Amino acid sequence: MNILILGSGGREHTFAYKISQSKRCKNLFVAPGNAGTESLATNVAINITDFEAVKNCVVENSIKMVIVGPEDPLVQGIADYFAETPHLKDVILIGPSKRGALLEGSKQRAKEFMMQHNIPTAAYESFTAESLEAGKIFLEKLNPPFVLKADGLAAGKGVLILNDLEEAKTELENMLAHSKFGEASSKVIIEEFLDGIELSVFVLTDGKNYKILPTAKDYKRIGEGDTGLNTGGMGAISPVPFADEVLMKKIEDRIVKPTVNGLAEENIDYKGFVFIGLIKVNNEPYVIEYNVRMGDPETEVVLPRIKTDLVDLFEATFHQKLNDINITIDERAATTVMLVSGGYPEAYEKAKEISGLENVEGSMVFHAGTKSENGKVLTNGGRVLAVTSLDDDFRMALKKSYQNIEKLSFDRMNYRNDIGFDL
Ligand code: AMP
Ligand code: GLY
Repeated sequence: MNILILGSGGREHTFAYKISQSKRCKNLFVAPGNAGTESLATNVAINITDFEAVKNCVVENSIKMVIVGPEDPLVQGIADYFAETPHLKDVILIGPSKRGALLEGSKQRAKEFMMQHNIPTAAYESFTAESLEAGKIFLEKLNPPFVLKADGLAAGKGVLILNDLEEAKTELENMLAHSKFGEASSKVIIEEFLDGIELSVFVLTDGKNYKILPTAKDYKRIGEGDTGLNTGGMGAISPVPFADEVLMKKIEDRIVKPTVNGLAEENIDYKGFVFIGLIKVNNEPYVIEYNVRMGDPETEVVLPRIKTDLVDLFEATFHQKLNDINITIDERAATTVMLVSGGYPEAYEKAKEISGLENVEGSMVFHAGTKSENGKVLTNGGRVLAVTSLDDDFRMALKKSYQNIEKLSFDRMNYRNDIGFDL
C-alpha cells in the first residue's frame, strides 16, 4: 500500500526508515520531510495542519495509511477530519482524535484525567488571571522548588521550575496576566515538585488493547551533566537500565492499564501512541506528562528495536486488533546522539553544509533538521542529525555513535559527549 508520514524531523525519518523496509509498503511519502527522508521516500511540500492539502495528497497518491508524527495536527483534529470525510474515512490513520489529543493539548485536562482514573501524579491546583492572587497564596504554602506549567501547547517551553518564591510569583503573573506563553498560559498548573529520575514509556493502543513498546530515557538539557537550557532532546537510550520487571509491572498496572481503560470508558477514539513521561520517586512511578505521539529523539532508539513489521502493527491498531499481534523486540541496546547547530536552543544559523555522511559505518544517521540543495545536504534546524547505534549494551552502542560523529561535520556543530552519564 501507499503510505504517508506527516512531519519533518528525526522521528519521521526513523518512521520512514522502518516503513520503507516493510514488504507491505509500495510507495512512501513524507510531508514535508527533510533531506534524509528524500532518500527513502517522496517528499511532499505541504503544510500538515492544512487538512485540505493533506486530503489532496492522500487522494492524488492513493494513500491507504497515514502516520502523524507531531502533536499539532492531532490537537487540531486531523483524526476527526479523516473520520468525517467520505474519501478519507477508510484510510488507516495513526494518531488519536481531538479529544484524545487533549491529554497533551491541555495539562489541566491531563491532570483531571489522571485524578479521575486514579493514576499517580503530582498534587496540583490550577489558576487563571482571575485567580492570580489565590495562586500566589497557594505558592506561599508550598516548599521550593515551585513547578509552574502553562496549560496549553508551548513548544516544550511551558514548564518553569523555580527555587525562589518571589520569582515564582512573578512568573505566575507573567504567565497569567501578561501572556508569557500566549494563549497557552491563560491557565497555569502549579504542581508539587517530584524528586527522582525520569524515564519514558511508549504505548501503542487501539483504544481497547495496547502494546508496551521499549522504554527510553531522553537527555533534554543542552549542557553536559544535565545543565543549561531545555532542548527538544540531545540524545536518548533504550532500554532504560533501571526499568526492571518490578518497576515495569507497577507502571503497567497503575498507569498503562488505567490510561487505556480510562480512554475507553470516556468513549475516546484513540488509535495511536501514548508517550508517558514518568518520574521514579523511591521506586514508585508517577506521571509527569502525556504526549499523544512518539518522542523525538526517543523514536530514534525505540523504533530500531522493534522487529515486528510496523505496517502490520498499524493496520491492527486501526482495526482494534492489536491483541492478535505479537510484538518482538531486539534485545540489544540503542542509543542516539543529537548533533545540533551552534547556539541552539537559542538563536542559531541554518544552511551550513554537512560533510561526512557517506563515511558513517555501523550507525544509522537520522536527519532531524536538514534540506538538500544542489546535491548538498544543508542544516535546516536547531537539531540537525541523530546518530543511532545498536549494540549489546548502551555503552558499546554509544561508543559506535561517538566514533561515527568524528566523521561528521558542519560549521558550529555541537553535541553532548555524556549521553547516559547518569546510568
Ligand atoms: P513536561 O513538559 O510536563 O514534561 O515538563 C518538562 C520537564 O519538567 C520534565 O521533563 C521534568 O524534568 C520537569 N518536571 C515537570 N513536572 C515536574 C514535577 N512535578 N516535578 C519535578 N520535575 C518536573
Ligand atoms: N523528547 C521529548 C519529546 O519528544 O517531547
